Amino acid sequence: MIVAVINNKGGTAKTTSSVNLAAGLARQGYKTLLVDLDSQASAALSLGMSREELNPGMSEAIMDGMPMEEVIRSRISAGLDIAPGGMDLANTDLNLADIPGREKRLNIQLQRVAGSYDWMVLDCPPSLSLLSVNALVASDYYLIPVKPEYLSMEGLAGLNQSVQRLKKGLRVAPTLLGILLTIVHPSSRAARQVMQRIRQEYGEYVFQDYVRQDVRLLEAPEAGRSIFDYAPRSNGAMAYTRTVKELLARSQQ
Ligand SMILES: Nc1ncnc2c1ncn2[C@@H]1O[C@H](COP(=O)(O)OP(=O)(O)O)[C@@H](O)[C@H]1O
Ligand SMILES: [Mg+2]
Repeated sequence: MIVAVINNKGGTAKTTSSVNLAAGLARQGYKTLLVDLDSQASAALSLGMSREELNPGMSEAIMDGMPMEEVIRSRISAGLDIAPGGMDLANTDLNLADIPGREKRLNIQLQRVAGSYDWMVLDCPPSLSLLSVNALVASDYYLIPVKPEYLSMEGLAGLNQSVQRLKKGLRVAPTLLGILLTIVHPSSRAARQVMQRIRQEYGEYVFQDYVRQDVRLLEAPEAGRSIFDYAPRSNGAMAYTRTVKELLARSQQ
């Protein structure tokens, strides 16, 4: 199964969720590939890769057709491989525009290695650029992390409309796996109200569990580790463990 973690807004915990859901799936015994599609390479860096190690990365796979086997770094931790992002992805997005079959480049690459993985988790950039379109085309599912705050509802409605429009225009149509509420400050009345409105509007699409603000989730990337390795008893680790279970139930794995 392939799931794109997508939101055109920055700072909604796409990378944090991609990293920890991928690590959580690996811990559950699923062979997992984390695909970093962001030019900041935050996912790769969060799991302890150094900047010098980022090349070759997904830019080479998408633009130059470099075999995924040469891009994938194996056994970042047990059961978890990673295909790193990097600065070149910023150009990739622009250069893709001129290429025939530009929406399918990632799909072709991921299909080549699909047999080796139970799950692939795609960490998308904070835009609905061609890279995100490639991610949607390549995916069975997409998951939207949302930080409940002022204008979240509007952002979410806009994102859903854009994805619907894209799905109509493209032949393959990923299913919405769910909306994950993240970086939640439960003592904030505003956050609670936004969460309630999102649940009213999107009902069952919203994951039961949400991820609270947890300083451990902020610290783990600096240590180059997933939350499960960095702070296994933290609130964040427990939230992502439950979210992995719910993700599996939703995808009926
Ligand atoms: N639950 C959380 N609690 C506290 N900080 C978080 C949490 N989730 C993410 N963060 C932090 O918020 C910032 C944005 O998260 P990130 O995953 O990079 O978002 P995105 O990829 O959507 O831009 C990062 O500094 C990250 O460490
Ligand atoms: Mg990110």
